[in-house]
Amino acid sequence: MKPKILVTREVFDETLAYLGAHCEVDSNQVDTPLDAETLAQRLADRAGVICSLTDRIDDKLLARCPQLKVVANIAVGYNNIDLAACSARGIMATNTPGVLDDSTADLAFTLMLAAARRLTEAEAYVRAGQWKGWHLKQLLGVDVHHATLGIIGMGRIGQVIAKRAAGFEMRVIYHNRKRVASEIEQRVNATYVSQDDLLAQADFVVLQMPYSPQTHHLIGAAELGKMKPNAILINSTRGGVVDDAALIRALKNGTIRAAGLDVFEGEPKLSPGFLELKNVVLAPHIGSSTEATRRAMAMTAAKNAVAALTGGTPANLLNPQAKDKT
Ligand code: DGY
Repeated sequence: MKPKILVTREVFDETLAYLGAHCEVDSNQVDTPLDAETLAQRLADRAGVICSLTDRIDDKLLARCPQLKVVANIAVGYNNIDLAACSARGIMATNTPGVLDDSTADLAFTLMLAAARRLTEAEAYVRAGQWKGWHLKQLLGVDVHHATLGIIGMGRIGQVIAKRAAGFEMRVIYHNRKRVASEIEQRVNATYVSQDDLLAQADFVVLQMPYSPQTHHLIGAAELGKMKPNAILINSTRGGVVDDAALIRALKNGTIRAAGLDVFEGEPKLSPGFLELKNVVLAPHIGSSTEATRRAMAMTAAKNAVAALTGGTPANLLNPQAKDKT
């Protein structure tokens, strides 16, 4: 008998075909997010779930899923999953690292360039029919080239962003919970500094650390106050690492120049004030959203789940201790 699996949100045809070859699949291809009760009911007899960051996988849910062996997230971030609860119940959890590094780094650069060159403001101006012709001081921005880029979080994606910066001849400084190996520093041409030094020196501060209770509001009023008045903040990692209310105040008061944001506290709702600001570029959590990358993420999650359900070890197992329990 094939193992039973639930796919909670819309995926691609090839993902479903692959899963169908190995599992009995129930899937929510209409893509309305399942509420907690419906998710629990549809998972009650399932051995696996392919889920996304909009699904909360907590102990309360797991307690109602006695057959569950694997939770395969279609995302590299997994703050929607209670990993400790999975481990305690012997449920494997997996994510999709690697396949989205380049696309996510590209989006961080897109936000940097758009915020620096006021692109969304400029586009709105043209669309509104306000453009009457060229003039010298029109929509003056700041340069990305030769500026100082400060990356907080020098994991895989942070390293790709640092490599991109070489093309713009930027100076790269970084801060990370743990300093990375000197070979990595040399390869990406980045210098380790304290967080305070980074905030004081960077023209662009890019956040690339995972969200956790430890990184909640890592950037708040005090940290924004340490940035240069002309600096630009980029958040393409997770809402919650920035105190959005403090950021809105800083953007309004001119504490910093601008921001480029792909993620928000409590998304998809936006904190009051963002929409009225001209000096913020807003994107709807599309960091990894290219056709090729989202297909690769979905297939990676499917392969992780199938490996777990057929006695193998998933390539991206987050909690090996859970496998030891099975
Ligand atoms: C991730 O993989 O964590 C992204 O935020 C999903 O797009």
